[in-house]
Amino acid sequence: MRAFVLQGNDAAMAVEWLHVHAQVEGVLEEPDALVVWLPCELPQLPKGLQVTVQERIVRAEDYHVTGLENDTVIVVTEDLLVRPPWVECPEGFAGTELIVPRGGAFGSGEHDSTKAALVVMHRSWDAVASMADVGAGSGILALYANVRGCERIEACDIDEPSVIAARELLPEASIYVGGAERMRPCDLVVANMTGAELRGSLNSILSIWTRENDLILSGMRAPEVDDLVARVPGREVDRETLGAFTAVRFAAN
Ligand SMILES: C[S@@+](CC[C@H](N)C(=O)[O-])C[C@H]1O[C@@H](n2cnc3c(N)ncnc32)[C@H](O)[C@@H]1O
Repeated sequence: MRAFVLQGNDAAMAVEWLHVHAQVEGVLEEPDALVVWLPCELPQLPKGLQVTVQERIVRAEDYHVTGLENDTVIVVTEDLLVRPPWVECPEGFAGTELIVPRGGAFGSGEHDSTKAALVVMHRSWDAVASMADVGAGSGILALYANVRGCERIEACDIDEPSVIAARELLPEASIYVGGAERMRPCDLVVANMTGAELRGSLNSILSIWTRENDLILSGMRAPEVDDLVARVPGREVDRETLGAFTAVRFAAN
């Protein structure tokens, strides 16, 4: 087996090309590179791709790397944590745990937009009869509602693999491929998406919000917050900014 380190703007595109044109045995994501494992020499990549290639010596121990070794507990607040099932709960922790296997879907708890949404949900959690998770990714925000006892959970994502992952995490929830309009109305509605996606979906998001509980929008970057807040017919009751991302909680009146 041989390993090639791909770096540069088009590294991901080069990997996609290799999946079609070579026998890719594995790809490891590193902070600034993609390492591709092949049983042979790397084929000549298409001209014009901005990518540098360096062969890496393969050691016997590399065959045992899974990419999961560095996973740890993600502390969201002192009494709320997220961890994959293969990482143990810290001894003595008595708060709320979200167990989410890190896979292809967005939402393993590492991203600041997920954390900001969780902080706002957790800070003033109120028993709710129904919750909708718009842009569910892995289903992590719906899982929070589930572990806090919410009985009816709906979720959606335009990305089918994410919907498959979320259905595995929450087999009893109703999870749809598509946008917010696919879901039945819910009392608490949470959406963590980019500012542009939130703006584009806002009418559908508002149409399924019964206003019996709150609406939480997360994933906004600083220049997007005021515009989105102004578009929501609700009263801002909480806000959390983590890194570049802000979550805002609105009450119906
Ligand atoms: C930032 S991720 C959030 C995932 C998870 N809810 C979390 O908090 O970590 C946004 C997700 O929204 C999905 N998405 C984007 N636009 C959407 C839309 N209009 N309707 C439904 N899902 C959408 C994406 O596929 C992606 O999985």
